[in-house]
Amino acid sequence: MAEDTRTRATAAPNFALVKYWGKADDEAMMPAVPSLSMTLEGPLVEVSLSDGGEEDRVWLDGTPVHETWRARTARFLDLARQRAGASGHVDVRSVGGMPPAAGLASSAAFFAALARAAAARWGLGEDTGTISDLARMGSVSASRSVPGGWVVLDPAGRRGPVLEARTVFAPDHWDVTVIVAVVDTAEKQVASSDGMRLTRDSSPYYGAWVDASVGLFEDGLRAVGERDMEGLARVAERSCMMMHASAMACEPPILYLAPATLAVTRAVTRMRASGLGCLYTIDAGPQVKVVCAKEDVDRVREGVLSVPGVLGIMEHAPGAGCRLLGAGSDPPRSP
Ligand code: PMV
Repeated sequence: MAEDTRTRATAAPNFALVKYWGKADDEAMMPAVPSLSMTLEGPLVEVSLSDGGEEDRVWLDGTPVHETWRARTARFLDLARQRAGASGHVDVRSVGGMPPAAGLASSAAFFAALARAAAARWGLGEDTGTISDLARMGSVSASRSVPGGWVVLDPAGRRGPVLEARTVFAPDHWDVTVIVAVVDTAEKQVASSDGMRLTRDSSPYYGAWVDASVGLFEDGLRAVGERDMEGLARVAERSCMMMHASAMACEPPILYLAPATLAVTRAVTRMRASGLGCLYTIDAGPQVKVVCAKEDVDRVREGVLSVPGVLGIMEHAPGAGCRLLGAGSDPPRSP
């Protein structure tokens, strides 16, 4: 029997309560602002690496990805090989997770799992910080899917060129559920990396956004530490809307929100005013993530599902971060 050369790892999406939007250094993938996020327990993406051919190749759920994504993955793998002093192209097979590029953090889970598998394959070690720093080079938010629970990525805490995301509170610190309200699964018009570059370079509100970020980050950390849903709602919804307002003021404007997105935010605001523990946040796409206190999940779910334009929901608890699975059989539907 041929030697099994696969390396497999899983990761789940994370989403930010205090947003990252804008880079201080594009090449070094250095965020301009600190962010605070929650790593979910699912849906898990499984990435496997096996010996490749002339170039790195990538399949998503059994289908070869388009060239832009393949080249982006290959650039990331080049960097991982360079850090490890390794060589040899690989075949990358990814299965599961969220639909790609719909603002559902699919790239975060993909690059976190890829970084975990690449680190194992090329001897970069097990250290969460090292793997998180590597994942950041694929997508900044991916660095936050490496550790579990409530996570911070703070450029003020960087060690030279190294910036890793770290857990500040374990997944069980606060019994909350995240309801993802899906309102549109089409691929987004403007990729987050392009959107944030345009915001930095053309939005008159970008400076105000950066100036507000440290205060929002500190207030968000405090609110999570104290399990203060009202306080976190004020911070998270403001961070979210400031991010979108700065993007809307670009030349040309970027609008990620759809009518149903806004309808969900209104429903959440109303539910909170009626005493339910819930808040909303929105990333670079139209879906809404609703964080709610465990005891209010049933009523918040009902409220979200009753909003016209909501196509469906997913529910996830905080999770433990990315994980190495070791060698195993090919994922289903791989070529
Ligand atoms: O790291 P990227 O390119 O996936 O950008 C993520 C940006 C947001 O999701 C909109 C905000 C965030 O902090 O995750």
